Amino acid sequence: MSKIAVLGYGTVGSGVVKVLETNASIITEKAGETIEVKRVLDLRDFPGDPVQSIVTHEFTDIEQDEEISVVVETMGGTKPAYDFVKRSILAGKSVCTSNKALVADHGTELIRLAKEKGVHFFFEASVGGGIPILRPLSRCLVADELLSIDGILNGTTNFILTKMADEGSAYEDVLKEAQALGYAEADPTADVEGYDTCRKIAILTALAYGAQVDYEDITTVGISKITATDIAYAKKMGRVIRLLGSSRRENGKLYALVAPFILGEEDPLYSVNGVFNAIKVTGNMLGEVMFYGQGAGKEATASAVVTDIVEAVKNRDIPVEIRWDERKQVVESMDTMKNRFFVRLETAEKDKAVEVFGGKTVIDGVADGEFGLVTEEMTEKEFDAKIAGFATCRSTIRYK
Ligand code: HSE
Repeated sequence: MSKIAVLGYGTVGSGVVKVLETNASIITEKAGETIEVKRVLDLRDFPGDPVQSIVTHEFTDIEQDEEISVVVETMGGTKPAYDFVKRSILAGKSVCTSNKALVADHGTELIRLAKEKGVHFFFEASVGGGIPILRPLSRCLVADELLSIDGILNGTTNFILTKMADEGSAYEDVLKEAQALGYAEADPTADVEGYDTCRKIAILTALAYGAQVDYEDITTVGISKITATDIAYAKKMGRVIRLLGSSRRENGKLYALVAPFILGEEDPLYSVNGVFNAIKVTGNMLGEVMFYGQGAGKEATASAVVTDIVEAVKNRDIPVEIRWDERKQVVESMDTMKNRFFVRLETAEKDKAVEVFGGKTVIDGVADGEFGLVTEEMTEKEFDAKIAGFATCRSTIRYK
């Protein structure tokens, strides 16, 4: 039998306890032994909940308990999660976490420490919730040179964009609904401004290329400025707006960006709606492969955490290599990244816009006194210089 502890009995932590209970016999069979939750750490008490008898408010009760071999961290944020996780590893315990902030900030160090201590540091649930993506990326797609990763990595924003398009609902109302459903971060700014997606694409890119990526190097644009009119233009073009985390390698250079993109039907990410996430990976031999599933939510995320627990138990004495060196990958300046752009301008500047941007795709009739236009591919710098020459720009969104 393996005994584990859960740090944080919130949405995901209580989900982990639920999954372990609900699927106990399947999990025992797959792990080769039973897994028992010996301790739950939380600031709160849970009167009436079966975990109440094992709740502790003291991390040292877990740190010093030699029977506990796996620590599950589902607190979120880095304080005090980083301290507790590091101390767990140093105490010789494996750690399974759903915490992308922790992995994006401290993954490099924690992976190294775990290796030195002969334990595991697993974090499958930190990206894509219940979708198995990190293990496939580092352990399965090893025959290919990976060319690009494009992901819908945040359930809250995808839920908001989908509902705004389907129902014409107001941004604030849909955000409240996402929060009530347990999808959003404690502070939803991290969702809507793209910071959550940014950390996730940094983790994916680190694993894809085997070396750390500083998420602060990734230009990040959220969805808070997307309006119902932008969505109406996308609809008129038969397209959708999706917040993407993207990275790609071209001629040995790494480009990465988080931003809303207008996508067409030909892109498999076009059909990813609601809280669902998807990660499209392109390899030089494999072509495109897409991983799709619930990117947020209690049971789905907990399912990925429990998979990590089973892996940690099964491989107790076997090292599981995670290729993630301390050498930092350089993200190229945004200026040199090439994209296409959708722009909205007032009608007075139409002739000039068609001249400057070419203007093969001009969209009229969506809103009074303005039009939309899709540019050819150009560098971000070139676009910035061109659009600066217009006085009436109402919106710019990248276009795939
Ligand atoms: N707030 C995140 C989301 C939770 O909406 O996707 C899962 O990381």
